[in-house]
Amino acid sequence: MPQSRWDAVDRYIGDRLLPFDSVLDEALRANAQAGLPPHDVSPAQGKLLNLLVSMSGARRILEIGTLGGYSTIWLGRALPESGCLITLEADPHHANIARTNIARAGLASRVDLIEGAALETLPKLTFEQPFDFVFIDADKPSNPQYLAWALKLSRPGTVIVADNVVRDGALADDHSPDPKVRGVRQFFDAMAANPRLEATAIQTVGTKGYDGFAIAIVGG
Ligand code: SAH
Ligand code: DHB
Ligand code: MG
Repeated sequence: MPQSRWDAVDRYIGDRLLPFDSVLDEALRANAQAGLPPHDVSPAQGKLLNLLVSMSGARRILEIGTLGGYSTIWLGRALPESGCLITLEADPHHANIARTNIARAGLASRVDLIEGAALETLPKLTFEQPFDFVFIDADKPSNPQYLAWALKLSRPGTVIVADNVVRDGALADDHSPDPKVRGVRQFFDAMAANPRLEATAIQTVGTKGYDGFAIAIVGG
């Protein structure tokens, strides 16, 4: 099945289920204009994240990998007024664009963007309340460490979602030399080995090609 078909179905889904939204559209436009890599989740995927936050009743969200804040806006919009979202971004240029997009979305009071390499900023969060929802979407080789941090910063019932775990099917290649694939495979091994986690992964096709999400819930 060709990419054009996946695009057509994403257009169909968007036309029916994703009302026109100038704030989200403007964020994507601003990100492209600023030369950010086109790694934002798709609109339908953003809505999925938004629904997962609503379904889980999450009030405190941790996002690792902000880019221009497109996924941040989808996640943050599902929070109650008193909720909060901390998002981590290493690249100062990405962080600047994201701050503007997040403010334009009216989420500046609920979103805290922490600039810096996530493995250096995550230790500062151990003094915070545990998170209810963690979205892992930064440098893929660090996924195993991000999972360990997500667990450290979680409570029983915390939902963990990771983006880009299928990578055109390379996930199934046990000899892949690609550090991103290796990172994601180690992330799967770590989930499998952890008796506190119940997890699955779902392959996706759409405007972002062939990829997938992993989703896990932390047990007691
Ligand atoms: N979640 C975004 C996409 C994130 S793309 C969305 O869907 O809209 C991945 C982001 O992770 C990039 O902006 C990249 O700069 C950032 N990143 C890469 N390495 C990082 C690190 N070590 N710490 C924090 N962010 C990192
Ligand atoms: C990559 C990262 C992403 O977050 C994404 O959505 C797509 C690709 C990457 O690093 O290759
Ligand atoms: Mg991603």
